[in-house]
Amino acid sequence: KQLPVNAVPVDSLYHEPYRPQFHFSPPHNWMNDPNGLVYFDGEYHLFYQHFPDSNVWGPMHWGHAVSTDLVHWENLPIAIYPDSAGYIFSGSAVVDLKNTSGFGEGTQPPMVAMYTIHDPMKDRAGLNDRESQGIAYSNDKGRTWTKYPGNPVIPNPGEERDFRDPKVFWDGGSGQWIVVLAVKDHVAFWGSPDLKSWRHLSDWGTQYGGHGGVWECPDLFPLTDTATGETKWILIVNINPGAPNGGSGTQYFTGTFNGKEFTMDDNLKDQVSGGQGIWLDYGMDDYAGVTWSNAPLAPDRRLWIGWMSNWEYATVVPTTDWRSACTLPRELSLIQTSHGYRLASHPVQALEQLRQESRTISPARIDSTLDLGEIPSIFELELDFQLPESDDFSIGLVLENEAKESYRIGYDSRSNQFYSDRTAAGDHSFSDRFAAGNHTAPRISDNRHLHLHLYFDVASAELFVDDGSTVMTEIYFPSTPFSRLKLQASGNPVEMTGATIYPLHSIW
Ligand code: FRU
Repeated sequence: KQLPVNAVPVDSLYHEPYRPQFHFSPPHNWMNDPNGLVYFDGEYHLFYQHFPDSNVWGPMHWGHAVSTDLVHWENLPIAIYPDSAGYIFSGSAVVDLKNTSGFGEGTQPPMVAMYTIHDPMKDRAGLNDRESQGIAYSNDKGRTWTKYPGNPVIPNPGEERDFRDPKVFWDGGSGQWIVVLAVKDHVAFWGSPDLKSWRHLSDWGTQYGGHGGVWECPDLFPLTDTATGETKWILIVNINPGAPNGGSGTQYFTGTFNGKEFTMDDNLKDQVSGGQGIWLDYGMDDYAGVTWSNAPLAPDRRLWIGWMSNWEYATVVPTTDWRSACTLPRELSLIQTSHGYRLASHPVQALEQLRQESRTISPARIDSTLDLGEIPSIFELELDFQLPESDDFSIGLVLENEAKESYRIGYDSRSNQFYSDRTAAGDHSFSDRFAAGNHTAPRISDNRHLHLHLYFDVASAELFVDDGSTVMTEIYFPSTPFSRLKLQASGNPVEMTGATIYPLHSIW
C-alpha cells in the first residue's frame, strides 16, 4: 500500500490507539461519507469525503482506496480536489458501459462521478443556490479524474440551500440515467440520456419518514425477493439529526419506481407517518451509507457501506491523526417480516478470511454471570440462545479492561429491545451526546431462537441479529483494550446453545 508522507512513523501507522484493524480508515486526517462506490474491472472503489490537511471537517476532497475483496484496502492518491467553484461534496460513480457521455477513449468504458459542488462563498453569503451538481470522468480506472467543463450539470433551481448528494444509476426500464438527490426534506429524481443534460422528473418524501433533520445521501435500487420473485425498489434516505438514538442515521422505504416516480408500499404508511422511520442500523455510528454500483451480484443482493460515526461528535472523538472509519461492508437483501418487507444486513462473506483459530464455548444455562475468559482486541463472535417461554429476562455481553471500564451489549425481553451501553466504556468527556444513556434497537423476529453475530474492532462493536433484521453499530474509547468477556443474564435463566469466538487478523 502507498503510505503518504506524514508525521506518524510508518511502523505505527494503522496501529495507533483506537485505530480499527479490520475496518477502512484513512491513513491520515479527516474522513466522513463514503462516496463514488463502484465496482470496475476487478476493483471495488471507495472514495470518501476527505480533508487531507486536518483531522476536522474542512474543504472537501474525494479520498480514494480500492479493494479486490472488500476486506483489504489499498490507499490511492486523492481523486478529486476542490477548486474555485467549491468543495467536492458527496456523490456517486458509475461505469458508463455504452459511453453515453462520450467521455470514453479507446475500448474501455469511462467511469463517471457525480458529486455536489458546494460553494463556500455563497454559503457564507447565505445564498440559496450554494449547492449544484457536477460530473467528472476517468479513463484510467479511477486513478485520475477530469472535471467536465460544462459543470454544473444540474444547477441549483434557487429555492433550496440543501440540494445535494447525487446517487446515479442506469434504469433499464426507462432507458435512461436516473439521479436521486437529497433536497432538504425530500428527494428529487432527475433523468438523463448522457449524464450531462438532466431534467427534473419528480419529488417524494415530505410526508413520510423521519423529519427531525435534513435529508442527505439518498440511494435507490431494486432488490428481488428470491422466495416470491417479487422485486421491490429500496429508497435509502440518510438524515441528520433525527435518528432513533440521536444525531445522524439511515432510514429506508420500500416501494416501486416507474422510471419517473417512486411509490411507497401502502402497508408502510402507518409505520412511517407522524415522523416515524424504519432504520437500517439503530446504533449511533452508522451514517451516510449508500450502495455499490455495477457490483457483480445477483439481483437479490446489494453491497453497502456506511460512515462509522455521528455528526453529534464526529469531529471531537479522541483519535489522532486520523478521524473516522467506515462500517464493515454489508450485503443487503430483502426479507419478509410480520411488518412487511425489510432489509436484512449481513457482513460480507469475504471477512471470513480474517478468522484465526476459533474457540467454542460449551452450551450453558445462564442465570447470572458466565466468564468467557480472555479476548483479543479484535474478534468476531457468534452466539445462539434458546429463549425462555416467559418474557422476563435479559441477556448480554460485557467487555472489560484492566482500567475497570466496560462495554455492554445485549437484549432485554421486557422491552423486546437490544441495548448498547457505552456509558462506562472509556472516554466520553469530549461530548455530552456520546454516552447520555443506553442506545436501543427493536427485535423484529419473534423466534424463540436468538442468534447474535458480533464484530469488535478495538474501538467499535457491530451487532447483527437473527437473520440480519436488526443491526447496531457503535464506537467507544476504552483507555486500555478490552481483554475479558462475560455473559450476563438476569430474570429467567437463558439457555446458551452455542458460542464461537474468532480472533481476527488485522488487514493493515
Ligand atoms: C453527510 C454530508 C453530505 C455532504 C457531506 C459533506 O454527512 O453532510 O450531505 O455532501 O456530508 O461533507
